[in-house]
Amino acid sequence: MSESQQPGLAYWSGEGGDNWARQNEFTEAMLAPVMVPLIAAASAKPGERVVDTGCGCGALALALAKAVGPQGRVLGIDVSPAMLAVARHLTPPEARAEFVEADATTYAFPRAGFDLLASRHGVMFFADPERAFANLRTALKPGGRLAFSCFRTPRDNPWATAPLEAAYQVMPRLPKPGPEDPGPFSFADPTRVERILGSAGFAAVTMTPHDLSFDIAAGGGLETSVGYMLDIGPASRTFDKGDPAARAKVEAALRAGLKPHVKGKSVLLGAGIWIVTARNS
Ligand SMILES: C[S@@+](CC[C@H](N)C(=O)[O-])C[C@H]1O[C@@H](n2cnc3c(N)ncnc32)[C@H](O)[C@@H]1O
Repeated sequence: MSESQQPGLAYWSGEGGDNWARQNEFTEAMLAPVMVPLIAAASAKPGERVVDTGCGCGALALALAKAVGPQGRVLGIDVSPAMLAVARHLTPPEARAEFVEADATTYAFPRAGFDLLASRHGVMFFADPERAFANLRTALKPGGRLAFSCFRTPRDNPWATAPLEAAYQVMPRLPKPGPEDPGPFSFADPTRVERILGSAGFAAVTMTPHDLSFDIAAGGGLETSVGYMLDIGPASRTFDKGDPAARAKVEAALRAGLKPHVKGKSVLLGAGIWIVTARNS
C-alpha cells in the first residue's frame, strides 16, 4: 500500500492483484452492471483492434474479443501477474485475445496499431495519468476511440462508503487522498479528467453519468458481503490484515452496517459511474 493508503502500482502488482484474482468470480458478479453502458459506448466492431487497459482478470477484454470476432484482436495489459493468469485461463481457444504484464504508462505499444482503447475501472490508479494516457494514445490510430468507466464521487458510491463508514465505527479514519493521488475515486472530477485527457492529446471528451446498483454479496447473503468487504475494497484498508483482533472488530461492524441493505440473498447498494469517451485528435 502506498503512503497515502491509495492502491498504486505496488499494491496491484502484489497483494491487491492477488486478492482480486482470488475473488474474481465474486467481483465479476458485482461489477457486471458496468458492462452494459461500457460495451455500448465502446461500440467495438468486427475486425477492430482493441486495447483493454488495466484488464485485470480479462472480463472486458474477452467481451470485446467476441465483438471484434476472428478478424479482430484484443490486447489486455495489466501489472498483476495473478489477475493475468486468471484472464489467460478464462480465454477460450478461439478468442483473439492476448494478455501482457506491463505498466500501461511506459509499455511500448505498436504505434497507431489499434482502433479502440477501452477499460473497465482500470485507469484511476496511474501515478502520472497524463503520461499514461499520452503513452496509451500512441497505440491509437488517428481518429481512434477511447471508452472507459470509472467511479464518480464517494458520495455517489454507497457500495464503498457504507462499508467504510461501518469500519470507521471501530477503526481510525484513513487519510484523505490528495486531489492528484491515484485511487478508486481519482477520476470523479470531470474537470480533472478533461484536463488529463486534453493534455494527453485526446479530443471530443464526453462523460455520461450512470447510476447502478451493486450486489456486494453477489447473491451469497450478508456473510458473503462481510467476507468480501474484509478482503477487497476501501473498508479492507482500514485495518492491519495481520491483526486478528482488529479484523474481528471490523467484521462485526460491517455485519451491523450492511444488514439494513440486505434484500433476500443480495446486499444492494448504489454505484455511480462515469462512462468516458474521447477521440485521438
Ligand atoms: C479496479 S481493477 C479493475 C480490473 C478490471 N479492469 C476489472 O474491471 O475487473 C484496476 C486494474 O488496473 C490495473 N492497473 C493499475 N495500474 C496499472 C498500470 N499502471 N498499468 C496497467 N495496469 C494497471 C490493476 O492491476 C488492476 O487490475
